[in-house]
Amino acid sequence: MTVPVLVDCDTGIDDAVALLYLLASPEVDVVGITTVSGNAPARSCALNTLRVLALAGREDIPVAVGAERPFLAEPLPHSSAVHGGDGMGDAGLASADPSLLDERRALRLIDDLSREHEGRLRILALGALTNLALAVRADPALVPRIADVVVMGGAADAPGNRTPAAEANIAHDPEAAAVVLSAGWPVTLVPLDVTMPELLTEEHCARLAEAGEVGRFVATISDHYMDFYAPILGRRAAPQHDALAAAVLTGEVVPSVFPLLRVEVECGSGPARGATVCDTRGRYRGSPDQADGNCRVALALERPGAFADALVERLAAWR
Ligand code: RIB
Ligand code: CA
Repeated sequence: MTVPVLVDCDTGIDDAVALLYLLASPEVDVVGITTVSGNAPARSCALNTLRVLALAGREDIPVAVGAERPFLAEPLPHSSAVHGGDGMGDAGLASADPSLLDERRALRLIDDLSREHEGRLRILALGALTNLALAVRADPALVPRIADVVVMGGAADAPGNRTPAAEANIAHDPEAAAVVLSAGWPVTLVPLDVTMPELLTEEHCARLAEAGEVGRFVATISDHYMDFYAPILGRRAAPQHDALAAAVLTGEVVPSVFPLLRVEVECGSGPARGATVCDTRGRYRGSPDQADGNCRVALALERPGAFADALVERLAAWR
């Protein structure tokens, strides 16, 4: 039996790749997608998601617009330098038909799917955690209906990317992240420590461009993303943050250091705002699980740097 997955995201170049990866993965069934403000406004992210679903021939999946602002704080600017003004690399893609958006708002869709797939629904969170925090606050009984939550976000021992201390998804809404990481459901955190080295390169994109429609789409939208990352990495390449988290969810990528840790989110107004303070002090004795841990944190992978090859293979062979 396939596993039902709800994706909450801010589509976004790497979100789009993650969605395509999941849609090409027979192990999981994407049963709904909710969007949140982050890389672009939540509504634009939902329209971008529709473009991805049309490409995949999966317009049957409901897409619901979620929070346009953080849970409590003032919003940060959208990440247009990273993902382009339209969130998809300003590649001139045709816009989607807004009438295809689900009539429900994100919280309603999360609630409906949690009841339809009670105890089995897995959530993959690829953007700010606003929708999930609002859903938990609206109905704490949601928590036991969810099998687990896999979050692309945070930085354990690595530097942040939105600020020196904070990873973008957490930085967009630290208060929401604090709620979600300690809600009591099983949480897996896939932080920058493991996502930054998983690089789609120009060689990968050349292979994708020679493949089918999906491959060409990924190569096209990755162009802008590589331009952004070139000065950071010293070469044109694109870290696959969100697709890596998706692959941890499917089990294709296996973490080798994966302890249950206490993780707190810094919600103050100083320079560490949005930091995920992970208690990694156990590293000198093999990173054991902690009795008061609230998140299982991927600190290292069994095959570091190998994911992009597998990703390209899966996408190039698909459509
Ligand atoms: O820090 C990387 C994350 O921020 C990814 O989810 C990317 O899409 C942005 O949302
Ligand atoms: Ca994202």
